[in-house]
Amino acid sequence: MSNVIRIGAEAIISRTHLIGFDVLSKHRIPKPYRISNLDEKIRESRMIHEVKVMLALKKACVPCPAVLLIDRKETTIYMQYIVGVELKRWLEARNEREVMEVSDSLGRLVGRMHMAGIAHGDLTTSNIIVDDSGKLYLVDFGLSIFTDELEDFAVDIHLLDRSLESGHYGVRELFMHSFFQGYSEVVGGDFTRDLISKIREIRRRGRYVEERRR
Ligand SMILES: Nc1ncnc2c1ncn2[C@@H]1O[C@H](COP(=O)(O)OP(=O)(O)O)[C@@H](O)[C@H]1O
Ligand SMILES: [Mg+2]
Repeated sequence: MSNVIRIGAEAIISRTHLIGFDVLSKHRIPKPYRISNLDEKIRESRMIHEVKVMLALKKACVPCPAVLLIDRKETTIYMQYIVGVELKRWLEARNEREVMEVSDSLGRLVGRMHMAGIAHGDLTTSNIIVDDSGKLYLVDFGLSIFTDELEDFAVDIHLLDRSLESGHYGVRELFMHSFFQGYSEVVGGDFTRDLISKIREIRRRGRYVEERRR
């Protein structure tokens, strides 16, 4: 028995069973407009890239699903199913203390990821899962990169902030404040200050582009 969770542009995400385990499968689907040989190569290399990122995160002690099996022929990853809710939903009914605790620990987690030379690439509140005990997990590494550029790390946090801006306006300021507290505990004050000015620069560029479009 398998339940489809999401049909995305790139992949079909399902909750299923694998030798008795509760797992999540991410099946990259063929793109009919691509030459089929090339399409297979692209899907396979994206899948392997995603697996490499998850393994590197495990090594850096950043919680993410454990990779259980990869099916190269079907371009499918089977990974641990994280029982919990997306941060997006979790934030809907929380008090200040709960928000501060979770955002502080998210800051630490993202700090460890960045110190390991990984930028998530799509760090929104839909790609962060909170389990029953309040523990956080990152998912969705299709756009992740191995990098040491400040700009890539700043984009992660900019995206997180933007996703709070659209969905959770009331908690955004509190959330980002304790996020940066946790983050700077891991990466240090100097790095955090540089990063914050980079984020400001990205925002200014964004506004400039929007104004030019009008
Ligand atoms: N390992 C997992 N355990 C539980 N839920 C997951 C897991 N991986 C993904 N999800 C859920 O499925 C959704 C879609 O998966 P994701 O990898 O983000 O695909 P997409 O590229 O379509 O965004 C996530 O937002 C999350 O809610
Ligand atoms: Mg996603």
